[in-house]
Amino acid sequence: MITYNREKRIFKLDTANTTYMMGVVDDEKFLGHVYYGDRISDDGVDYLMRIYEMPYVPTQNPRDRGSFLDTFPTEFAGSYLGDYREGSIRVRDKFGHEAVQMTYRSHEIMSGKSALKGLPSTFPGDEGVETLAITMADDSIGLEAVLYYSVFEKEDCIVRSVTVKNNDDAPIHLTKIMSMTMDMDSEDFELLTLHGSWARERQIDIRPLGYGKNSVGSLRGESSHQENPFMAVVDKGTTQDRGRVYGFSFVYSGNFIAQAEKTQFDSLRLSMGIHPDCFDFKLETGDSFVAPEVVMTYSNAGLGKMTRNYHDMYRQHLIRSPYKNRKRPVLINNWEATYFDFDTDKLLDIAREAKSVGIEMLVMDDGWFGRRLDDNSSLGDWYVNEEKIKGGLKYLVDEVNKIGLKFGIWMEPEMVSPDSDLYRAHPDWAIALPNRTPSRSRNQFVLDLSRPEVVEYVYGCISSVLKSANIEYLKWDMNRQICDPGSLYLGKENQGELCHRFVMAVYELQERLITDFPELLLENCSGGGGRFDPGMLYYSPQIWCSDDTDAIERLKIQEGTALVYPLSTMGAHVSDCPNHITGRVTPFKTRGDVALLGTFGYELDVTKISKDEVDQIPAQIETYHKYNDLVREGDYYRLASFRENHSFDCVQIVSKDKSEALIVFVQVHGRPNCHSRNLRLDGLDPEKIYKVEAENEEIITLHGDTLMKAGLMIANPWGDNVSILIHVHQV
Ligand code: DGJ
Repeated sequence: MITYNREKRIFKLDTANTTYMMGVVDDEKFLGHVYYGDRISDDGVDYLMRIYEMPYVPTQNPRDRGSFLDTFPTEFAGSYLGDYREGSIRVRDKFGHEAVQMTYRSHEIMSGKSALKGLPSTFPGDEGVETLAITMADDSIGLEAVLYYSVFEKEDCIVRSVTVKNNDDAPIHLTKIMSMTMDMDSEDFELLTLHGSWARERQIDIRPLGYGKNSVGSLRGESSHQENPFMAVVDKGTTQDRGRVYGFSFVYSGNFIAQAEKTQFDSLRLSMGIHPDCFDFKLETGDSFVAPEVVMTYSNAGLGKMTRNYHDMYRQHLIRSPYKNRKRPVLINNWEATYFDFDTDKLLDIAREAKSVGIEMLVMDDGWFGRRLDDNSSLGDWYVNEEKIKGGLKYLVDEVNKIGLKFGIWMEPEMVSPDSDLYRAHPDWAIALPNRTPSRSRNQFVLDLSRPEVVEYVYGCISSVLKSANIEYLKWDMNRQICDPGSLYLGKENQGELCHRFVMAVYELQERLITDFPELLLENCSGGGGRFDPGMLYYSPQIWCSDDTDAIERLKIQEGTALVYPLSTMGAHVSDCPNHITGRVTPFKTRGDVALLGTFGYELDVTKISKDEVDQIPAQIETYHKYNDLVREGDYYRLASFRENHSFDCVQIVSKDKSEALIVFVQVHGRPNCHSRNLRLDGLDPEKIYKVEAENEEIITLHGDTLMKAGLMIANPWGDNVSILIHVHQV
């Protein structure tokens, strides 16, 4: 998978269908980017770095060293020494200077891949993975960096990360470190990112790549309501199955930047890493800093192939939970059913009715602890409110278990309410700037997790809640973003470490949690989908996608999410109508069919919805059980997008052995006086004969090639927001 051409000094990394090449040039040993794209032969094409044309390399043309650095396609860009594009690294050294320029020293090719200390990271699993480690250094300031490239052949993925080490005799402040820099020629490319907001997460956004810096990122202390830590550079006009696509996904849950910079010479510099704003990490002599991973993939066959690469990569090589290949229990969550207004009796009523229709778990959401009657108090006081939960938590859980349901619970461990016993006892445990009134958001503060005793306290609370009763699921929420980045614990020189230390502490807490409670089903959440990123998937197999449970809004949210993340990770529930966020009314069936494309569950008061709706639940759950293995583990094909056509949406999941497929079709707007639609399927075996069972249609039998080339006819459904399930299975 990884070879080194000694004569030409070229590294070649091959996956099944792609090649990534780098080269060492000049006596100074600059590390340049040669090529990334379709798999090619080993011709040592160093001329792609344009080193044989003006301004040439510095030994041949010392008078234009600056021009060389400013145009050379590099793998790891310096700062302030002639390359004026986005740098990969910046420091403040013992003289207060910020310049860096690293060059190649040595390399090693290893089989396997190590985990990153304290950070989420991809792992080889059963597959043979090779890793290239290239050591770079800047001797003028005693700084070293190792660039790692791990090759996942089958998934067509290359995973990059960087470790920086201070070898100087004095501390150095690392003020910027990109995990990935890659230069390429700019053709007619566009930038695709996942933009959003609360209740509108991960909407696909495509824009032309103009000159200058085109970037997305987060400075909110969490990754992703507004911009997801993902970008793709795509050919103009790329579709699901046509066009070149370069995907970059950042395995991190905090501040990030993802950027494409189009330069004066029509090259593109792509960068991805921890956002350099609000970041200043002090490295003592001998200290190292490990930067998070970027998972890159290339597809020459449109977005669909990129999606399937990421789904396979994350399912096989990132998610560790024992639940990743298991059906999740069908849960009912009481948030939209009751909000804060519940007690033991109410929950038991819901549990009894839920059991009678086939639901398997009750999740008690926000409001069960301290004196919490609304969102103004008690975060941090993780003991049960016996006025609401009469008889206590254990009693409630035991009663729910007796009814025949599992029990799950909600917590928001990173937070503290100003009105809480915890804050009254430890006001210095909250993130705040000492000379300013701390900013409240949802009337709460964020705990300073850089402080070890806070991490201990938080872990103690979580584990004692979980140990106090038979709790089999935890929803870990985070409902505000970080501002006022000050720590009363960290020293003056270390304040810029707070945001990264915070994320590292969240990882440490979740690592302890899944180690001590290996069978716990953990669902991450952040005010809906504010932390839907690959970092969290290392700890939890699923993440709550959005507080917007409206089936039609979900079409767009789930389309953007599924572009990168497997369906098995997308928290999706059937909720009540009119929908609490949009006021829209959709058929109960459509709500169920859309939730089938995620983890599937309910978020409503089952004792209050209509009898007609209650009666539909058993069949919905049966459908979930019938198709969940396929949805969780199959290949994703997007056949049509409501976002694009403003009319209907269609997703197809094909089993790995191509023996069956599920198609979820949603007509959002009814069409007057129209004929049936022709729908061409994808991903089937052209030779196989399939039986097609569409709801209310006669069963037909056709070859895979007919279904994919001639297509199926979908009769024009009557009404808005109507869904149809089609099952295709090999005869
Ligand atoms: C935000 C989550 O996304 C909701 O599902 C719910 O748990 C609330 N927080 C509770 O405060």
